[in-house]
Amino acid sequence: MIIAQISDTHIALDTPDAGRRIRDFELTIADLNALDPAPDAIVHTGDIVHNGRHDEYIQAMATLANARAPVYVLPGNKDNRMNLREAFSACGYFSSDSDFADYAIDDYPVRLIALDTLSSASNKGDFCRKRVRRLIDLIDAETTKPIAVFTHHPPFEVTEGPDLLHFETPEVMSGLSEALQHSGRVVAIFSGHVHRAAAGHVGSIPATVMPCIATTLRRGEYPARMKRLPIYHVHRFDPVWGFVTESRIAGAQASTNLLEHDRTRP
Ligand SMILES: [Fe+2]
Repeated sequence: MIIAQISDTHIALDTPDAGRRIRDFELTIADLNALDPAPDAIVHTGDIVHNGRHDEYIQAMATLANARAPVYVLPGNKDNRMNLREAFSACGYFSSDSDFADYAIDDYPVRLIALDTLSSASNKGDFCRKRVRRLIDLIDAETTKPIAVFTHHPPFEVTEGPDLLHFETPEVMSGLSEALQHSGRVVAIFSGHVHRAAAGHVGSIPATVMPCIATTLRRGEYPARMKRLPIYHVHRFDPVWGFVTESRIAGAQASTNLLEHDRTRP
């Protein structure tokens, strides 16, 4: 099974770099569509838009509509839970009996569980007792398949960057961490939010953070020729080895052609 992860597109309509954020998103979807073999699923781990506005979701949906693989989304701190749920209601995976934007997808050899880590108080993550209970129920609903969990806020300490902890308190993060480990069937955790690549563990479960698709908001050092090229992750699952993650540079081929063109130009 092949899962493409994208994150932190921060689509906005009224910032000076609005056009570039849309272009980064479009470049990424075009690159994903050219993958061979194609991904089975695309998961967007939040901050789809920057201000949670309806018109921003309309713009984001116009880009996502070009994706050839099924797209699953979850909210980041810049999203508006209600507007996001409304914008993606036709996808059918948000449950009407939940206040949160969390769900499980059972259509693949690996179950996908998307979590809602939004806080009503800050940009950091929250995971109340109700959500812990819901996560345990989602995990226990099926007992034979491995599970990949997707979150916006990473549920482990990210030692790169200014903030170690991306949840409001260590207690909230350990409540989530315990729930993730309770069955032994969660084989990987994939997150966003930090805008830079990172890797760690939740207990013995490997966990990664992907960089942000919006190149103007990406953190970390990159060579000059990569500065305008978004990076996304492709997670390939093998039943024996688990997930292997590849970082891909969207538009790298186009950029190489451009460099070649520059080099050969008289
Ligand atoms: Fe973000």
